[in-house]
Amino acid sequence: MTRKLLCIDNVSKHFGGNVAVSEVSFAVEEKQICGLIGPNGAGKTTLFNCIAGYYPVTSGDIVFNGLNINRKRPDQVCRLGMARTWQRVKPMSNMTVLENVMVGAFASTGALRKAETIARQELLVVGLENYAGKLAGSLPIGLKKKLELARVMATSPKMLLLDEICGGLNKTETGIILGIIRTLRERGVTIVFIEHDMKAVTSICDNIVVLSSGEKLAEGTPVEITANPEVIAAYLGGGSSNA
Ligand SMILES: Nc1ncnc2c1ncn2[C@@H]1O[C@H](COP(=O)(O)OP(=O)(O)OP(=O)(O)O)[C@@H](O)[C@H]1O
Ligand SMILES: [Mg+2]
Repeated sequence: MTRKLLCIDNVSKHFGGNVAVSEVSFAVEEKQICGLIGPNGAGKTTLFNCIAGYYPVTSGDIVFNGLNINRKRPDQVCRLGMARTWQRVKPMSNMTVLENVMVGAFASTGALRKAETIARQELLVVGLENYAGKLAGSLPIGLKKKLELARVMATSPKMLLLDEICGGLNKTETGIILGIIRTLRERGVTIVFIEHDMKAVTSICDNIVVLSSGEKLAEGTPVEITANPEVIAAYLGGGSSNA
């Protein structure tokens, strides 16, 4: 039986007079990949920042694994089993690839050896095992994205929030990242996936939520969303440079 792991209930986020997210509600079922799409400025990253504890919501409720996390800090949300990647990847450039992933592992263990073991396992999963000793800042963008995935997986998450993890990658690199994401789902991780590349979204997502000007415009399967006239008019019809 499926269970709702994340419930977004009537969530709004205002920045002064700017309504970035407006009364958005949806739920993400356990072990599903939920796409979150919409034009630039639609409020996707802002919603992630609210869920992960970086921004307090203006109103509404965010319930993760049965617990209201509205007032939790990012480190608390992470320890509850939710990890996020950043739209603009920002590894700790002067630390090695291994050390970056160990920082993730410290969310679930205080033991140095155990953190290193977890980190090396996750580097293997993303194919970065040969880069463990390299400085993170020296990696090209495609490998930095893999490092992001290894870092968040080292926290032992129940849920991942992936913000444009394929952004800036070519087709081959995107295919590799999608393959890794599928293996993470097979490990039981639930994923919310922000992405502009619709081929990537429709190939990997079970369900898609569309935001436009901060509001939820539509929700449905990839087939339903790509055929939805409102979504085509607001986003898929070529109005967005990234769509
Ligand atoms: N810290 C902030 N202070 C003020 N306004 C903000 C802040 N963060 C986001 N916004 C505003 O919220 C709105 C939504 O931005 P957001 O970054 O969430 O969009 P997005 O859907 O992630 O877009 P993109 O696809 O370009 O990444 C925009 O109008 C943006 O200017
Ligand atoms: Mg964004």
